[in-house]
Amino acid sequence: MERAVARIDHDAVRANCARLKSELGEAELCAVVKADGYGHGADGCANAALAGGATRLAVATAVEAEQIGRRFQHVPLLTMGALTAAEVDIAISAGSELAVWQDDFRRLVADRARAHGHRARVHVKYDSGMGRLGNRDPAEVLALVRACAEDPKLELVGVWTHLATADELDSTYFDEQLDRFDEVASAVKAEHPQVVVHAANSAAVLRDPRSHHDMARCGVAIYGMDPFQADPAAQDLRPALSLRSHVADVKRFPAGASAGYGRKWKAPVDTWVGVIPLGYGDGVRRALTNNADVLVGGERRPLVGTVSMDNITVDLGPETEVRRGDEAVLIGRQGDEVILAEEIAGRLETINYEVTCAISPRVPRRPA
Ligand SMILES: Cc1ncc(COP(=O)(O)O)c(C=O)c1O
Repeated sequence: MERAVARIDHDAVRANCARLKSELGEAELCAVVKADGYGHGADGCANAALAGGATRLAVATAVEAEQIGRRFQHVPLLTMGALTAAEVDIAISAGSELAVWQDDFRRLVADRARAHGHRARVHVKYDSGMGRLGNRDPAEVLALVRACAEDPKLELVGVWTHLATADELDSTYFDEQLDRFDEVASAVKAEHPQVVVHAANSAAVLRDPRSHHDMARCGVAIYGMDPFQADPAAQDLRPALSLRSHVADVKRFPAGASAGYGRKWKAPVDTWVGVIPLGYGDGVRRALTNNADVLVGGERRPLVGTVSMDNITVDLGPETEVRRGDEAVLIGRQGDEVILAEEIAGRLETINYEVTCAISPRVPRRPA
């Protein structure tokens, strides 16, 4: 038994990718494995994604590119984030493709490619409305595309954008972004038909085939989480992660006895309390104080008292069969009960992405 462990169902990742690929048809699936695969472990999930039909991988940072590039040398890898000059060298050495949207950065990448003795593969990024990375001016984007195509030190691989509202019900802004991107993409395709144009994330793939283009970059759905923050099963997705620990102690609490820092919970009646040895040091957020359930003995037990760095407490009720050493599940299934990352996200007023990314390196990731 381990203090705490995140069990990763790689077969679920494989099946989720196959599900997305069935929507995409001819379009390629790029599995986004940044932030250690949204907290699921990047290496194992990249492997599973490739087995499920992904043909490309993407990360955010140069250090992530180094890790993934070393392990998956023959799979095209895109580093999507902004890079410093030193990070450009790391990403090029890792064999990664780079995102480019400013002319001085394009020249820097070409210079560094010369120093490395081989061409750098680039994707020109158009900011069609995300208002984050990318160039907002279509004319500048097309000029940059031309400059990349003409530079012998660069290979123009892609032209791309990112969608700001693919997970929202209203499609007005989503459609406007796609309209803007389609104009740029068709101008690029007219001159460079081989260029991979891409816009879609998980939500876009599931909601509108018009967004699929040549490739989709999917993260959250490959891990079996719902991009719309509801039930992954409704999208035919299987959650890949469960967060498990155990009951380290079972204690009798007379009415009025309190659990944890600040006495934020007091037993309303005589009861049993289970102590579970994980806390915010493992990524179980303190805002879950008196605000979550934990599965023990196949039943939901309210998390009571303050979440501390290394421990939480649950109310097992006035009579209990629970014993020291019983399994405790914070995310995942136990018997007929299940707690989804979406449920925790709802309690924290955040999104499932943040819940799994927050699980700290102190928690080992192991295959389910
Ligand atoms: C640029 C970019 N593309 C694609 C993705 C994948 O998005 P999702 O996890 O919603 O599929 C992300 C994730 O945040 C991203 O930043």
